[in-house]
Amino acid sequence: MLHHLTALADARVLITGGAGFIGSALTRQARALGAHVTVLDDLSGYDTDTYTALGHTRAAPGMIVGDISDRPLIERLTRGNDFVIHAAAYSTVAGCVRDPDAAFAANIGGTHELLRAAAGASSVQRLAFISSAQVYGHGVAGPDEVQIFTEEQPLSTLNPYASAKLWGETHTRHLLEAAGVDYAIVRPFSVYGERQVPKPGAWSWVVAQFCMYASLGQELPLNNSGRQIRDFVHVDDAAHAILASLTAPQASGVTFNLGSGQPTSVRHIAELVRDHLPATRFQAAPRPAGDPFGGRADIARMVSVLGWQPSITVEAGVARYLTWLHANPEAIPSWLPDEHNRVAAWEHPASAEPALTDSRPT
Ligand SMILES: NC(=O)c1ccc[n+]([C@@H]2O[C@H](COP(=O)([O-])OP(=O)(O)OC[C@H]3O[C@@H](n4cnc5c(N)ncnc54)[C@H](O)[C@@H]3O)[C@@H](O)[C@H]2O)c1
Repeated sequence: MLHHLTALADARVLITGGAGFIGSALTRQARALGAHVTVLDDLSGYDTDTYTALGHTRAAPGMIVGDISDRPLIERLTRGNDFVIHAAAYSTVAGCVRDPDAAFAANIGGTHELLRAAAGASSVQRLAFISSAQVYGHGVAGPDEVQIFTEEQPLSTLNPYASAKLWGETHTRHLLEAAGVDYAIVRPFSVYGERQVPKPGAWSWVVAQFCMYASLGQELPLNNSGRQIRDFVHVDDAAHAILASLTAPQASGVTFNLGSGQPTSVRHIAELVRDHLPATRFQAAPRPAGDPFGGRADIARMVSVLGWQPSITVEAGVARYLTWLHANPEAIPSWLPDEHNRVAAWEHPASAEPALTDSRPT
C-alpha cells in the first residue's frame, strides 16, 4: 500500500457519484482503508438491477440519495469532510450529445454547486475532480498514428461531455484556489472491470460490451478491423490512483492522466474475449468518419507524484470480467441483445458522429 494512503484511516470522505461504477470501487477501497465514507448519488445512472450489481441499495450505510445540484443538501454534506471526490456526472458522451440540457444541469450546474460548497467548507483538505481523457479530443497526431497523450498538450473538446469536463477543471482551479482549498485533477482514460454495465445507446465500455455480446453468442462488431488504440485501466487500479491523488503530498494542484500507459487495440480485446469463448465470431464494420485511431496515456506524472503503478494487465482484467459475468449473468441488461443492431447504424453517415465520439474514453 502507498504509505500516504494511511491519511485516509478515520478520515471523512464524501464521494459524489459514489454508487456508480468507479464511485463504488472508490467507496469499497476507501472503507477498506478505514475511511468514513458518505456517498451522494441520485441513482440516475442505471436501473435498480445494475445498482444492485454494483453493490448499492438505497438503504446502504452512508448512502444519501440526492442531487449534487441541491444547494442546501450539498452544503450540509460537504461540511465536516476531510476529503471530497467529485465523480458524479452525466457520464456518457452519447447521452450528453443527445441531451445537452441534462449534461449541462449535472456536469456544469451540479459541479458548480459541489465546488462552491467545497470552497466554503473549512474542513476539506483536498478535493479530487474526476475529469476525462476526452479533454484531449482527437489529439495532435495524424489520423492513423498511435499517440501518447501528455497533460501539457493542447486540449480540444469534441462534444458537450468533454467541454463540461474541461470547464470543470478550470472551475475547480478558480473556485478552490481563491478559497485556499487544495485539489487534484484526474483525467481517466478507458476504465473497465468487473461490475461495469453498458448504458443504452452509448458506444463506449467495449470490454463489458464484447464480453456480454460474446456470452450471448453474438458477433463482436469490429469497425476498421478493430485497429483503433485505447488505454484500458482496470477500475481497481483507477480507484487506487484516485484515492492516492487525495493523499499524495505532491499531488497538490496537479493535473494527472490516469491510464495503464499501454496501447491496446480494440481487436486485441476481441481476441482476448475469444480466447475464453472460442465460438465467438467477429463482424466487420466500417470505420465511422473521423473515428480517432487513438493512443495511450503518458502516465509518468502520476507514477512519479503518487508512487502509483497500474498492476492489472488487460489480459488479467478481461479474464476477471468474464469470471464475474459468468457468476452474475443477470447483470446483462435486458435491452443489450437488441443494441447489437446498432452496428447497422454505423454504416449510416448521419448517425456516425455520436458513435465516433463515444468510442473514446469517457
Ligand atoms: N468509466 C470511464 O471509463 C470514465 C473515463 C473517464 C472519466 N470518467 C468519469 O468518472 C466519473 C465516474 O464515471 P463512472 O464510469 O463511474 O460513471 P457512472 O455513470 O457509473 O457513475 C456516475 C454516477 O453519478 C451519478 N450522478 C449523475 N448525475 C448526478 C447528480 N446530478 N447528482 C448526484 N449523482 C449523480 C449517477 O447516478 C451515477 O451513479 C464520471 O465523472 C465520469 O465522467 C469515467
